[in-house]
Amino acid sequence: MVLVSVVGLGKAGLPLAAVIADSGLKVVGVDVDEKRCEMINRGVNPIPEEMGLDELIKKHGGKNLIATSRYTDAKHCNLFIVIVPLFIDAAHNPDFSIMESTFRSIGKVLKRGDVVVLETTVPPLTTENLVRNWLEEESGLKLGEFYLAYSPERIMTGYSISRLREFPKIIGGVDKESGEIAYKLYKKFIPNLHLVPDARTAEFIKIIEGCYRDVNVALANELFKIAEEISVDFYEARNYANHEYCHIHLPSTGVGGHCIPVYPWFLIKEMECRGKYGNARLLRTAREINDEMVYYWAEKIVLECMKIEKPLADIKICVTGLTFREGVKELYHSRGLALVKYLSEKGLNAGAYDEMLSDEELKELGVLPMKPDEADIVFDSFELNVGLTD
Ligand SMILES: NC(=O)c1ccc[n+]([C@@H]2O[C@H](COP(=O)([O-])OP(=O)(O)OC[C@H]3O[C@@H](n4cnc5c(N)ncnc54)[C@H](O)[C@@H]3O)[C@@H](O)[C@H]2O)c1
Repeated sequence: MVLVSVVGLGKAGLPLAAVIADSGLKVVGVDVDEKRCEMINRGVNPIPEEMGLDELIKKHGGKNLIATSRYTDAKHCNLFIVIVPLFIDAAHNPDFSIMESTFRSIGKVLKRGDVVVLETTVPPLTTENLVRNWLEEESGLKLGEFYLAYSPERIMTGYSISRLREFPKIIGGVDKESGEIAYKLYKKFIPNLHLVPDARTAEFIKIIEGCYRDVNVALANELFKIAEEISVDFYEARNYANHEYCHIHLPSTGVGGHCIPVYPWFLIKEMECRGKYGNARLLRTAREINDEMVYYWAEKIVLECMKIEKPLADIKICVTGLTFREGVKELYHSRGLALVKYLSEKGLNAGAYDEMLSDEELKELGVLPMKPDEADIVFDSFELNVGLTD
């Protein structure tokens, strides 16, 4: 009988744990956050913005899905799925500390025949090198006595349940046997599953999706600036340019969130380590173009300020929309936040408004709360409108 442990019950892990429980399997969820575990066991959903999750947690929390902060409570499980975060530091290097402690804890309860699958997005070769070593060192077992695979999480916050049930998911083993065994187990709860040649291919597939988006957003941002320079309406041109073989993205203030601005660095850094700087030139340039959009919009805002007959420092500027996308309360690498901070650092009277953030939360972020109707100029981060208020 398959007994599943999902380690990391966050925005990605909890919907997966709930979908597995709903397929009829018993799940032990492990998370260091005791309060979150206690909520889940009471049938209360800690991620209310996730569509359909309330119902699943109510139905399975404390029953088919037991949450715990102790790894030893998962010792009877034979499939371990890991979705804990991987952060990158200021120099864009991955910090594996959470992941290492997670796998070492699993290694301590790992038994012969168990299957371990990593789902966190990671730099290529992480599963076959780092994860394998941590598990072997801690368990005293060798690969072949346990099985190891990688299957990237491809959800979108808010739509995770339907994504898990419908969207194609991939899985690849660090060796052939691991891939085949993990595929069979995952098939019990993931209907649209594809076995790819190996774990490193599965890791690469997830990263290149992010790279594609980042580079295309950078292209759209660059074309947008060129269009403006030569007095062309970018949006109208884009409508006619896009067709089956051309899909120009929308311009933006850059790219925020935990995923797309992070993943290109996994490849850029890997190529740097190998002395192959030229292999990731486009990826690096795209990152720079997207991050520099903050300065582009800051300049546009200042130009708008010039139209007002007041000293620059007295003009109230409100930036609206700080969260990473509309309706998702996530501020990691928020470009709206970077913009309002940059304007303030330059001595301008800039504040922010976001319907998902209270004044106290804005102050904690080091930002002046400001309502759009109190401002002289409003910049909408989602619509990219810079406008004078009436
Ligand atoms: N959220 C998404 O939309 C999304 C999409 C694709 C991929 N992912 C991947 O999933 C990973 C996790 O993202 P998330 O959004 O779920 O993060 P999250 O911050 O919402 O959740 C992470 C969870 O892991 C727990 N945790 C931390 N250290 C732990 C440990 N040592 N042992 C057990 N639990 C621990 C935290 O308490 C938290 O509940 C990301 O790094 C990314 O690679 C997320």
